Amino acid sequence: MRVIKKQFISKPINILGIESSCDETAAAVCSNGRILSNFIAGQRVHEQYGGVVPELASRAHLQNIVPVVDTALKQSGVALTDLSAIAFTQAPGLIGALLVGSQFAKSLAMALDIPLIAVHHMQAHVLANLIPEEKPAFPFLCLTVSGGHTQIVLCRSALDLSIIGQTIDDAAGEAFDKSAKLLGLPYPGGPLIDKYAKTGNANRFSFAEPQIPGLDFSFSGVKTSILYFLQAEIKKNPSFIEENLADLCASIQQRIISILISKVKKAALETGIKTVCVAGGVSANSGLREAIATTGRQLGWKVFIPAFEYCTDNAAMIAITGYHKLMAGQTTDLSVGASARSDW
Ligand code: KG4
Ligand code: ZN
Repeated sequence: MRVIKKQFISKPINILGIESSCDETAAAVCSNGRILSNFIAGQRVHEQYGGVVPELASRAHLQNIVPVVDTALKQSGVALTDLSAIAFTQAPGLIGALLVGSQFAKSLAMALDIPLIAVHHMQAHVLANLIPEEKPAFPFLCLTVSGGHTQIVLCRSALDLSIIGQTIDDAAGEAFDKSAKLLGLPYPGGPLIDKYAKTGNANRFSFAEPQIPGLDFSFSGVKTSILYFLQAEIKKNPSFIEENLADLCASIQQRIISILISKVKKAALETGIKTVCVAGGVSANSGLREAIATTGRQLGWKVFIPAFEYCTDNAAMIAITGYHKLMAGQTTDLSVGASARSDW
């Protein structure tokens, strides 16, 4: 029998990803670019406040981080000592929240004496599209829609990403959440608008359509138009919202989606790129998923939409980005900090 010496067996590249930029403490393990585990602990403590309370988020991350990492490792079957590198969300996000994940990642990388990789949260959302077996070919466009960002990203390679359009005020997720708040729905309202919209008539009410040049977005005018409309209707009928909730949700959702789709169409036309991906929490919206797929069929695009668990905040996207950065030699030293705001 041939004996294979241990040093000649190539070890898999195992990356632990850690995400803690907002109100989700998450850890995931990827091995040679394949996700083995993806564990998320949400924080329900914020529901009663109608939004994320930064101080409470930091405390919850501190409580969750050890059991979350432990669970992700156990589920992956990869031992701590078999990790090749640790990737963590370095920016952007709530600073107290980011500090918990970054400090934990730095300490673990130091203890294990393995490389550390700083990941930009918004780039990771885009690269969630590289998780499935069937991946988009470069170059592709990505519509990234989350609670804090709305961007059209031109992706030439995994690490060559340029923002070619973005919101000049509110993000698409904020537009969903703020509209939901006006309807008296709890935070985060996006998923609830999605739910009620399913049984509503999207053509019943019409809200302002912004006229922003180029590939940039604006959502603050939509929000104001919803506010004024509701104020006027409630004056006439105090039960207006309850009686028309599904139609209101469907109409609001349709307007937000039409703003997003029209700019993606424009970007595809201007760049000549016909491979289109979506990313970020709002890409979990069923209306947006359907609209982008339909538009893609009409215009001959190849459309890629990540699975739900890779749309909203997760650590699998951090691990996969870490994998591409490690392959390109983009590691960082232990003096790295975290930043609340950051361009890339
Ligand atoms: O990417 P994400 O999980 O966190 C950020 O990085 O911001 O996005 C959160 C946003 C929230 O605004 C939430 O309301 C929205 O994504 N969202 C949705 C849906 N699921 C999450 N918006 C509309 N429809 C959904 N199904
Ligand atoms: Zn996010």
